[in-house]
Amino acid sequence: DFKTTMASVEFPSIFLNASGVNCMTVAEMDEMINAACTGGVVTKSATPQQREGNPQPRYYQLEHGSINSMGLPNAGFPYYLDYVTREHAKPTILSVAGLQMSDNIELLHKIQASEYTGLTELNLSCPNVIGKPQVAYDFEETDALLAEIFSFYTKPLGVKLPPYFDLVHFDQMAAILNKYPLTHINTVNSVGNGLWIDIDTEKVVIKPKQGFGGLGGAMILPTALANVRAFRQRLNPSIKIIGTGGVTSGKDVFMHLLCGADMVSVGTALLHEGVGIFQRLTDELATIMAEKGYTSIEDFRGKVQDF
Ligand code: DHB
Repeated sequence: DFKTTMASVEFPSIFLNASGVNCMTVAEMDEMINAACTGGVVTKSATPQQREGNPQPRYYQLEHGSINSMGLPNAGFPYYLDYVTREHAKPTILSVAGLQMSDNIELLHKIQASEYTGLTELNLSCPNVIGKPQVAYDFEETDALLAEIFSFYTKPLGVKLPPYFDLVHFDQMAAILNKYPLTHINTVNSVGNGLWIDIDTEKVVIKPKQGFGGLGGAMILPTALANVRAFRQRLNPSIKIIGTGGVTSGKDVFMHLLCGADMVSVGTALLHEGVGIFQRLTDELATIMAEKGYTSIEDFRGKVQDF
């Protein structure tokens, strides 16, 4: 099977849920941990206080993916900190998302002061909170935030990034990230602010933000692969990569790994298929590897070839 060590944490598999899917409640997080072939669980991004999120409908399944504007519904930071601080059979990643910069600092001070010693992931890329831009599209703000965080924070910390679409942006963001002792990046978050229309009703399909929402699923796989590859080419080797976006099959996992992903997470397809998907992805990846004569992920990780 596919054991992996990321940032000194031993995961029994490379597979995780994408934050937001199957990780809002203790029951869902336990289900992730107990399911076959999962590496552990990433929590729903926690805000300082519990939130209801945006009005419904706020998630819609598309032919080749999904659109959502959830608006960070979550049970609040204390709920998730309590969960990850308890003993579990597999590792946890605590995802946190400030609604403003001071929240991010406050949340990380609380984690620093807590008993939790595991991984934390700072979500710099929620596209769905009305009036709040995706932090990691503001390069100066991201740099200043990380500088402040690492002036006091000493526990393992990664960041969740939005997709970038310009090679210069990869250069610029990687140069910023390389200044800090990050354990990992998680790339990509949803492709922000897509739009879908039901042609019978001539209406948008989700209620918040006049129908604008984050795209996920198969349609974003090429964007996700580009981000994993571009960051693997630019980041310090010490910064690991969780590849997220567009995974529905073992082939997709194989491509993420060829691009250099250390772990792979699944969102839209997990929502549609349930936690049984991780056994299927494991079997499909194992079949591809056997056909190619690979005995370990290290035989091909990051080794995508130029044309
Ligand atoms: C939500 C969506 C995201 O893509 C994210 O990173 C965080 C939160 C949401 O709408 O809840």
